[in-house]
Amino acid sequence: MAIQQTFAIIKPDAVASGHTGQILGIIEKAGFRVRGMKMARLSRQQAEAFYEIHRERPFFTGLVAFMTEGPVVVLVLEREDAIKHWREVMGATNPAQAADGTIRKKFAKNIERNAVHGSDAPETAAVEIPFFFNMAELL
Ligand code: RTP
Ligand code: MG
Repeated sequence: MAIQQTFAIIKPDAVASGHTGQILGIIEKAGFRVRGMKMARLSRQQAEAFYEIHRERPFFTGLVAFMTEGPVVVLVLEREDAIKHWREVMGATNPAQAADGTIRKKFAKNIERNAVHGSDAPETAAVEIPFFFNMAELL
C-alpha cells in the first residue's frame, strides 16, 4: 500500500473535555505525519454539507447540532494506508463496540459523541480534505 492521506476531525466533545493533546499524541505514535491542522467552528450549513450523505438518517439533526456546538480540530494525516489505519486507531462508531486501546474506546461518550471522525474511502478523503484545507495549508 502506498503513502496516502486521510481527513480527521477531533470532534467538539473531545476538544471541550481537554483530550486534544492526548489524541494528537496517539496520532503521532501511530505513525501519521500531520500535513494540515487547524481549529474550526462549523456553521450549521458546513456541518449539513459535510454529513450530507446522512441527511435522511434519524440521527442527522442531532449530529449537526453536536458538530456545531463548539470548536473542532481538523487534520490531514499521512502515512502508508492512512485511511484504513486511521479508522482502526479511531475504533468502532459506537464506543460500546470499540476495541480496547482505540480513541473511541478511551474518549467517546456514546455512538453520537464519539470524539473523532475519519474518511471512510479514498473518494471521501478526496472531497473532505479540500472541504477544509487549501493547497497552501497542506505542508
Ligand atoms: P464519522 O463519519 O464521524 O467518522 O463516523 P463513522 O464513519 O464511524 O460513522 P457514520 O455512520 O459515518 O456516522 C457519522 C456520525 O454520526 C453520528 N451517529 N450518531 N445516534 C446514532 O445512532 C448515530 N449514528 C451515527 C456519530 O457521530 C457518527 O460518527
Ligand atoms: Mg462516516
